Amino acid sequence: MQDDLERTLFDEATILARLDGIAAQISADYRDRELTVIAILNGSLIFMADLLRRIPLPLKLDCLSVASYHGGLQTSGEVIFRQVALPDIEGRDVLLLDDILDSGNTLAAIREKLSTAGPRSVRVCVLLQKKKVRQRPVDADYVGFEIEDEFVVGYGLDYMERYRNLPCIGVLRKELIAQ
Ligand code: IMP
Ligand code: MG
Repeated sequence: MQDDLERTLFDEATILARLDGIAAQISADYRDRELTVIAILNGSLIFMADLLRRIPLPLKLDCLSVASYHGGLQTSGEVIFRQVALPDIEGRDVLLLDDILDSGNTLAAIREKLSTAGPRSVRVCVLLQKKKVRQRPVDADYVGFEIEDEFVVGYGLDYMERYRNLPCIGVLRKELIAQ
C-alpha cells in the first residue's frame, strides 16, 4: 500500500501530535458544555477514534452516513443521506467531524440539514483542508492540516474504498488513478 504513494505528507506521529493540539483546543472551548460529536462516515472513523480519546470531557457520539462521491475523485455535488432519522441534537452543542474539506458540498449540505433539528450550536472539525476555492462556502472551526489541492489517501481517507488503513497520509501515485 505504501508503495502506491507518490509521497508521504504526514506520518502517524505527526498526525497524532497535531491531534493533541486540536483536542486541547476543543477541550478548552467546550469545558462547561456537553458536546455532541457527529462523525461523518466512513472517512472520519480513524481520525474520530484518535481525537476523541484525547478529549477528557463528557460527550455523546453519533455517526452520519452520506454519499457524495460515487467512488471517483470529484464530488458529485449532490449529497444523499443514508439514514432516515437524524441524531437527536435539539438544544445541543454539536461538533461535526470529517476527514477532509474539499469542495465544501458535503459539509454545507450536512450543516443545512442539521440546522433543521434545532441544535444550540454547530461547529466543524476537519483533519485536512484543501487550499482551493470551494463550490460552497464552509468555514471549519478546527483544522488539522492545510494541504494543496491534491488527491490524498490514508488514515481513513480512501480511493475507491482502499487505503483507509494506511497509518500515514500521502499523495496517491497519479498512474493508479483511473482516468
Ligand atoms: P467535499 O464535499 O468535496 O468537500 O468532499 C468531501 C468528501 O470527499 C470527503 O469527506 C472525502 O470522503 C472525499 N474527498 C475529498 N477529497 C479527497 C481526497 O483528496 N482524498 C480522499 N477523499 C477525498
Ligand atoms: Mg471517500
